[in-house]
Amino acid sequence: MIDLDFVRRQFPAFATPSLKEHSFFENAGGSYMCQHVIDRFNRYFEQRKVQPYYAFEASKIAGEEMDLAPIRFARYLNVNADEVLFGPSTSQNTYVLARACLERLVQGDAIIVSAQEHEANSGVWRKLADYGIDVRIWCVDPNDGRLQLSNLLALLDNKVRLVAVTHCSNLVGEINPVRQIADATHDAGGLLLVDGVSYCPHGFPDIDALGADIYLFSTYKTYGPHQGVMVIRDAARHLFAPQSHFFNHDNPMKWMVPAGPDHAQMAAANGVIDYFDALDAHHGGEDDCERPRRISALFTSAEAPHIKTLLEYIETRNNVHLIGPSDPTLRAATISFVVPHMAASSISQKLANKGIMAGAGHYYAARLFSQMGLDPEAGAVRLSFVHYTSTSDMTNLIRALDEAF
Ligand SMILES: Cc1ncc(COP(=O)(O)O)c(C=O)c1O
Repeated sequence: MIDLDFVRRQFPAFATPSLKEHSFFENAGGSYMCQHVIDRFNRYFEQRKVQPYYAFEASKIAGEEMDLAPIRFARYLNVNADEVLFGPSTSQNTYVLARACLERLVQGDAIIVSAQEHEANSGVWRKLADYGIDVRIWCVDPNDGRLQLSNLLALLDNKVRLVAVTHCSNLVGEINPVRQIADATHDAGGLLLVDGVSYCPHGFPDIDALGADIYLFSTYKTYGPHQGVMVIRDAARHLFAPQSHFFNHDNPMKWMVPAGPDHAQMAAANGVIDYFDALDAHHGGEDDCERPRRISALFTSAEAPHIKTLLEYIETRNNVHLIGPSDPTLRAATISFVVPHMAASSISQKLANKGIMAGAGHYYAARLFSQMGLDPEAGAVRLSFVHYTSTSDMTNLIRALDEAF
């Protein structure tokens, strides 16, 4: 069982007077930052804020700290360190990838994009249609926003070079069957790009086992700095022309990051792994290759009861339209709903009055709203939580929901 006191001690937000009386349910927008990351930031800015990779000591240790990040993230993600890149954000990373892909595609090539995507993994691919690429949309079921594999199979053929899909939509919250999607994509001769932004706060995946060729997520949602991590497997490199300065085309840290990584943020990203390592050690884990999977299991065990509680509660409210599946075992801890004839913003305001921090809006999934026949302007209420969410946060939430509508 997770030691929540230990967990919450790692996050200064929980001891901050302006925050500690509130329950935080907007983690899908960005999680709290752990102390390990803050410490690394402070040390970097105070002691290492120089151009890295020169001979003098401050520069050397700055570069060494940056170099550690892909090595340590790679271990958690089960990929090679030179397949892990740090860019400014996932939106910037997909923008660059789409530009890089365009240089390698020819007229008649096809790309499949799911309709469940955050705009970061949608618009940049759809835009390739302006350049003669056949962009095919993998539609969702309009009733619940879910993707069906059979609809993907109907779109796949030997023209498809890339399938872009989310591991878990930031609105629907369902964990998509990435392994099956990867197998189907590979059978057709394509590559699979997965947006893991909404999935990774709930535990880093084994990307090799998943079969994704490109995998993206944002560390400001995984307790760290505002960075986008981009894993490009060696087998997928050929689909992307380098986007760096010409002399950096072979630099694994830079070839797909035009301006290079932000030095301090990349160094501080190590703090996320420090936190995971400390958490596992605190729960009795040895420093072995099972550590990443134990962290994921720990997070799941902490979140699963809360997911069940909230879904059961929503089921009792017959004026609520849940988005996504009602089966808790299919979901991450991101649960959105609409209440007919009520703007989501008015509900989130009422929740805020009761100390609940929750989102309202379309969460940059505006196309998904439209496909589901929902009004993106009216928006949905989104309640997203992670392993540090407590039972008393959940009690506060349900009490506030009772009074909000
Ligand atoms: C599912 C999903 N994908 C992509 C993004 C974009 O990430 P970033 O803010 O790093 O550009 C977000 C951001 O909220 C998201 O929730």
